[in-house]
Amino acid sequence: MSTQPYDFESELYPPPAVLLGIVQRGLGARAKRLPSWLFYDRRGSQLFESICEQPEYYLTRCEMALLQAHAGEIADTLGPDVRLVEYGSGNAAKTRLLLERLHAPVCWVPVELSATALEASVRQMSALFPQLPVQPLRADFTRPLRLPIPPRALRRTVLYFPGSTIGNFEAREAVELLRKMRGEMGENGGVLVGVDLKKDPALIEAAYNDRAGVTAAFTLNLLARLNRELGSDFDLDAFGHRARYNPMAGRVETALVSTRAQYVHVGRQPYHFAEDEAMQVEYSCKYSPADFAALAARAGLEVARLWTDPEGMFSVQYLVRGGAQAR
Ligand code: AVI
Repeated sequence: MSTQPYDFESELYPPPAVLLGIVQRGLGARAKRLPSWLFYDRRGSQLFESICEQPEYYLTRCEMALLQAHAGEIADTLGPDVRLVEYGSGNAAKTRLLLERLHAPVCWVPVELSATALEASVRQMSALFPQLPVQPLRADFTRPLRLPIPPRALRRTVLYFPGSTIGNFEAREAVELLRKMRGEMGENGGVLVGVDLKKDPALIEAAYNDRAGVTAAFTLNLLARLNRELGSDFDLDAFGHRARYNPMAGRVETALVSTRAQYVHVGRQPYHFAEDEAMQVEYSCKYSPADFAALAARAGLEVARLWTDPEGMFSVQYLVRGGAQAR
């Protein structure tokens, strides 16, 4: 089947009025915080790609190595005639490894909010797999999805969620998202998810504080985005990147820290930052295999297979419907 031309729109998402509400709510909270998905404008997505190449950021390398080593086994586990629905259209290299080994995949459905990212990944994958039907869906994968009608009968729908992006959701939200995925994959489907594992905190912290300063630039770019899209007046020289591993919570907590007392204006509203005040911008949760199995169980899913490296750095896990859905 040949690739259809796709109609990509490129307007700002979310629209400025919606973005303003989100940011003002976050800045108005007692402990200021902003959602981490705000990182991913065009520049932020480029910086994230560069983070993935930093020597300290082990996550991408480990996940790629796992796919290189086990893609055949993963494909056998998923079986033939799979519809692969990818949450985020992110990393073509990982998807490629998987699609190369899948047995007669029915189609690939990348789900992505950014029109540019979606377009780029569709072009790339269509060039690599000219026979594979591609059904891009421009949507927010945290919301209920209306999947396109598949081009032919399928055996199962597998939701692919690589990169340990599940770690950017707090436990309660992660359970909600997994429960939503459970619904979308249907009775016979599964979830293939990349999950970063707990390990030496020094290794984890280094991954979020690379020496080249790419992660710091990525974090600060959020403020540049707000200045551009909302006309706010964040002084990028008056904020610093801070990423620390909290071993009790099992997560990296990333914040933008005000280096002096200052006012910032967003819309017509002034917001005061004290010197050293931290604004939370991202959590990156790390799980032991047992932690993640317990999280999945809360969503009515069980771990059917787990692939990990000998050092236990990272995991790729295949989840299927479990017993009674816990609350
Ligand atoms: C996308 N996500 C899994 C990355 C992470 O590791 O939490 C985002 C990131 N933030 C800083 N570095 C990478």
